[in-house]
Amino acid sequence: MCGIVGYIGFRPAAPVLFEGLKQLEYRGYDSYGIATHSNEIFIHKKKGKVSEFSPDETTLPGTCGIGHTRWATHGIPSDLNAHPHTDCNEQIAVVHNGIIENYAHLKRELRAKGHTFRSETDTEVIPHLLEDLNEGDLLKAIQKMVNYLEGSYAVLAISNDCNRLIAVKNRSPLVLGIGDGEFFAASDITPLLEYTNRVLYLEDGDIAEISVDGYEIYQGSTQVSRRVHEIQWAPETVQKGGFPHFMLKEIYEQPEVINRAIHSLTPDSIPRFLYDAKSMTVVACGSSYHAGLIFRYLAESACGIPVRVEFGSEFKYNSVPLTDVIIGISQSGETADTLSAIHKGNCSNVQTVAITNVLNSSITRYADNTILMQAGPEISVAATKSFTAQLGVLLQMISLLSGQVSDEFLSHAGVSIDKVFLLNLDDAVSLCAKAEHIFFVGRGPFYPVMMEGALKMKEISYIHAESYAAGEIKHGPFSLLSPETPVIATCLPGPAYAVMLGNLKEMKARGTPIIAIGSEEDTELSELADVLIPLEEKHIFLEIVAVTVILQLLAYHTAALLGREIDKPRNLAKSVTVE
Ligand code: G6P
Repeated sequence: MCGIVGYIGFRPAAPVLFEGLKQLEYRGYDSYGIATHSNEIFIHKKKGKVSEFSPDETTLPGTCGIGHTRWATHGIPSDLNAHPHTDCNEQIAVVHNGIIENYAHLKRELRAKGHTFRSETDTEVIPHLLEDLNEGDLLKAIQKMVNYLEGSYAVLAISNDCNRLIAVKNRSPLVLGIGDGEFFAASDITPLLEYTNRVLYLEDGDIAEISVDGYEIYQGSTQVSRRVHEIQWAPETVQKGGFPHFMLKEIYEQPEVINRAIHSLTPDSIPRFLYDAKSMTVVACGSSYHAGLIFRYLAESACGIPVRVEFGSEFKYNSVPLTDVIIGISQSGETADTLSAIHKGNCSNVQTVAITNVLNSSITRYADNTILMQAGPEISVAATKSFTAQLGVLLQMISLLSGQVSDEFLSHAGVSIDKVFLLNLDDAVSLCAKAEHIFFVGRGPFYPVMMEGALKMKEISYIHAESYAAGEIKHGPFSLLSPETPVIATCLPGPAYAVMLGNLKEMKARGTPIIAIGSEEDTELSELADVLIPLEEKHIFLEIVAVTVILQLLAYHTAALLGREIDKPRNLAKSVTVE
């Protein structure tokens, strides 16, 4: 996981690269660096966030260069481990996203040949290998080099002796931007949007040679052509637009996002084999996994078919009976664990569907069918609008498969989020901000909704938050309850209401402060709860969406009160492309 960007054209490369890296920081932000070419190679790299660079760092000369923002895998975040990495004589500079699995073996061989390594990274074998193979033509050296590398890589390389940029891709994303007299390469399209809307997605095994005059793409030494796409995302979508953080901006985009997501799935566009499925498996990670769990509760009850939900990371390594259909949910479409799970489905001839936000992402190539959730670019590391868009798609899928399309849901999903924006959450926020531990509890589909709420809270506020199915909390976690550990609970009218209320009374009897999301008219709940967050909706789908947004705002405002970083929480990355 890391972000890479490259430029060749008529503009000074360094500012383009720095600005591009800022757009990619969600992929990693512990160190950064750029290399430019102007008769020789110039390098600037250091530990820290690229968004904190000073403008005088952009004065490297040249109109061709490469850049990198890092999420450390091999070696600590440091100036030395930051990319770009070079060969012994600093004639070749390389940035890399992915993992070179056989790097230790290659490093031993290259050391034996006299190469001197400066970093602890797996990446550094690449420039040394190129140095070894280079006979004056960087493209040819790269065409030979790919035969030695095992693992995942998107690599950009420049060398001293030519004004060209070489890009090579295997199992890590890499897209080219086609401008007028200028070309870009990047891990995703966000750094390109300011300059061009014409993009080309490289395929695994592609090697692109790019100069100011144009580009050529090869598979091995055979030239191939790739389709150029016109992208609809506007450049403003990757700017904060007056909000203090991308996360808040993205939360406020959700009324529109959910409407778009719901309407992206129609009776005609839904893959036909879903109607015939007698069983389904959802594979996903992080927030996407929680969306899958919510789907399971509701789909099993509305469609009467068993739905299994598996972490991508577990699915590949366990031998589990296969179902008729595998649905992979991934905002980025690049999560390595989810991709492996889909790949396993493909190998077993199971029909696969990808639900993703990113056109042409890797998952769209692995799966038989793709449903695009159309949330627009999500920059904040913590997923918000992409999660809501996943809900929009999945809930609409249930409606269509069960034949119970709800007008209430179709027409009010956005409105129910708008109503959440009017709620006053101050008391709940101040209770949370004082806590070291918070429990999130719910029943039925609200249990995974609370799991997502707890994940949001811990990701961005760094408060320890755990979620429990409300009935389970008395089987152990009760020993942790105290006046210092608030419990946040969903307690809405419905079949489990009475038992839920009973559970909350048991918790209250242990002195635990209760923040309840429930009906405003529920006097019993309002007397019991320290804080009641009122919610009135007429459909369970709308309740689920509204509770999700309440918990996002609770996490956001708690983190803001505590002065946390919010958009780039420590140690995290948005797109996890390693298993
Ligand atoms: C990372 C992100 C999470 C995300 C998870 C799965 O851990 O920080 O926010 O939910 O990856 O990502 P995906 O792109 O597959 O939905």
